[in-house]
Amino acid sequence: MLFETVATGGCRSYLIGCEETCAAALIDPELSQVDRYAVLAARDGLRIKYLVDTHTHADHFSATQQLARQLNVPVVMHGASPAPFVDLRLQSGELLVVGKLRIQAMHTPGHTRDSMCLTVEDRVFTGDTLLIGGTGRTDLPSGDAGALYESLFDGVLKLDPSTKVFPAHEYKGRAHTTIGQELAENPRLQKRERGEFIEMMQNLNLTMPTHITEALRTNMTGGKTVAQMLAEAAAIVPFMSLAELKACIESHKCDFTVLDVRERDAFEEGHVQGARHLPRGQLELRVNQELTDPTRRILVYCEFGRVSTLATATLRQMGFRGAVALDGGMKAWREAGYPVVAGKEG
Ligand SMILES: [Fe+2]
Repeated sequence: MLFETVATGGCRSYLIGCEETCAAALIDPELSQVDRYAVLAARDGLRIKYLVDTHTHADHFSATQQLARQLNVPVVMHGASPAPFVDLRLQSGELLVVGKLRIQAMHTPGHTRDSMCLTVEDRVFTGDTLLIGGTGRTDLPSGDAGALYESLFDGVLKLDPSTKVFPAHEYKGRAHTTIGQELAENPRLQKRERGEFIEMMQNLNLTMPTHITEALRTNMTGGKTVAQMLAEAAAIVPFMSLAELKACIESHKCDFTVLDVRERDAFEEGHVQGARHLPRGQLELRVNQELTDPTRRILVYCEFGRVSTLATATLRQMGFRGAVALDGGMKAWREAGYPVVAGKEG
């Protein structure tokens, strides 16, 4: 078995491959690492056949959907997953065949209703059901402390004590542990009585993970993150530097329209000399009146350089092939000490 761990922050993804056939499965991939997975698989001579999420993640952005499109391979989750983009929904006991490897699903609800652990050869991928020295929390949507108790004590902890444990999170840099070690040392597993365990889990008072709303929205629906929207827009637009724009204005060689897409108050407080004003929210409504020449170069800016990237992508999609986004926004322009004009559109 070929085996790679990708650790980012506290998140862990695993690439497991069959040496004989080069087939591989990728477990819990994260959106920020999409390129790394493809490179790792190529380096090891592996072809990823399955993209598996052990559960609906609330604390990071899953890459399964994007990788499924890129690699044209199925997304695998437990049957209880709410995500509409899942191609293969496993039930407890079912196997994924990855070359000579057999990856077996064990439904382990508790952290979430759709949590599953995956056993293959000498190891188990526990997702957030069992962590090294901890367990997944049960206070997020579809969490259930009683279910977690059963999933642990009647499920994953019944595996052979020598089984290696690879969790979806590890914050202290430990590579793995074993079922036997966890049973002996994991503080949460010392509450062996169901009522005690539930009471402990219900009184952890953990802070909410950052990005929880966006992670649940995108992981449950297959929708895009704001960062993805921006990256997709940025990929189809050219940019102009602040210094280049300043030089064009100063040399009176500004042969393009400068378009400010912020709200009116922000525009009147201070804008780039000669800029036209068309708020992003009204772009599609007023584009035909305001921008009559589709061949003209249009330099778009906003406050931070993000909304202008989206607006530029929209303009290009509408046929404005000369639309360019400012690399940066008015905030950076002001901070650079570049000239600002106040008042209405002149
Ligand atoms: Fe989780």
